[in-house]
Amino acid sequence: MNDPNGLCCFQDRIHVYFQYCPESADGQGNRRWGHYEGEDLLHWTYTGIMMSPDCKWDRDGVYSGSAVEDQDHLLLYYTGNVLYDGDYDGILAGREGNTLRAISTDGRHVREKDLLLTPKDYPADCSCHVRDPKVWKEEGLWHMVLGARTRENRGIVLRYQSTDGQRWQYVGRIQTKEPFGYMWECPDRFVLEEEEFLSFCPQGVPSEEFRYQNVYQSGYASLTEEELGVFTEWDMGFDFYAPQTFLMPDGRRILMGWMGIGDADYTNATITEGWQHCLTVPRELYRTKAGRIGQRPFREWRRLCMHPLKWAANMAVPAPFVLEGRAAGDFSITLAKHLHIDFDQAQGILRLHFSSPELGAGRKERRVRMDGCEEVLVLVDSTSVEIYLNDGEVVLSTRYYPGEGPIAVSMRGIDGDIWPMEGMEVKYLAT
Ligand code: FRU
Repeated sequence: MNDPNGLCCFQDRIHVYFQYCPESADGQGNRRWGHYEGEDLLHWTYTGIMMSPDCKWDRDGVYSGSAVEDQDHLLLYYTGNVLYDGDYDGILAGREGNTLRAISTDGRHVREKDLLLTPKDYPADCSCHVRDPKVWKEEGLWHMVLGARTRENRGIVLRYQSTDGQRWQYVGRIQTKEPFGYMWECPDRFVLEEEEFLSFCPQGVPSEEFRYQNVYQSGYASLTEEELGVFTEWDMGFDFYAPQTFLMPDGRRILMGWMGIGDADYTNATITEGWQHCLTVPRELYRTKAGRIGQRPFREWRRLCMHPLKWAANMAVPAPFVLEGRAAGDFSITLAKHLHIDFDQAQGILRLHFSSPELGAGRKERRVRMDGCEEVLVLVDSTSVEIYLNDGEVVLSTRYYPGEGPIAVSMRGIDGDIWPMEGMEVKYLAT
């Protein structure tokens, strides 16, 4: 499974679609959309493949997109990938990223597909890489943003408008003053506490010691008219990319990301079992005092908790569990003997690192500058760890492969609770 698509609430259900490549665990094969449906954020049903390449406009892949409810229908806007036969670079020639709309009445099946935009409808300076429509309605108008790479290798976002959700007009672009990567994927525009934001995934941004440490980036910036604010990464761990947000009926803005990334120089040990990747837990977004976006794991996680265990410096706890602690100065947490979370107060550096290549399947180290780190919440599952620091001002996610049995936990400089948990419920209507 790859990135989440079409996150939405429709007909009293939460819908989580995702890029799915069932033919092979290493992603060789055409992309489809798989589908999970939630009664709430804890009880899910997998209903199977929802969309597959089956027309000439999406014949080489049903790529990423978004969902909008309209008059009892769910409209799914997505990219139809088409590759030409022949010797092309796939950047300046040989590929189409068509924008399509699929209509569903139940969220599980597609009734029809329409072609909305083809390469001739994109600005002439765009390369063949234009994709991942995010559509929303506001004040009687329909809006769309699309990720794009120009022919001169600049990442940008294209903006379109429509009065009916079907006929679209190009109205401009969003870009940074200075070039920032060669391609921007998976844009998401949303409003949080009355401020407008653009989330996007730039590719081709050079790595720095404390920033942009992954092969591709994923972050957000405030958006005013066509001005973009400072780009801030969503997650500083090894495994996070292409998130989307949606609104819950109770007003919470939820973000879910792909706990994976393409083209990384580390891997996932489950490939030999025929699968890889997962999504993050749903995260509640809020605005921090500093005007940035904080992320808290969905509050329903507490409903999965059993009795807390007595805190000790060394423990062995079956996953999943949450470690909820407070620190004052330096601390360190070690999971499964070789995954370390270390905070050095004097240097103001938080490090997530592996001391064995097996546990991290090739992951080494990620670093974050932090003036202080008092609040620590770690969601520990059997192959994934999500670390929320200072009430989610900084988040790091990673996969790890500890094997069967309880997870060894050792801690220094930190005090709090360990909550053993039940898993979320996932039923299967399809395999
Ligand atoms: C993000 C992405 C999207 C694209 C999809 C294809 O990981 O590259 O830009 O639509 O995956 O699977």
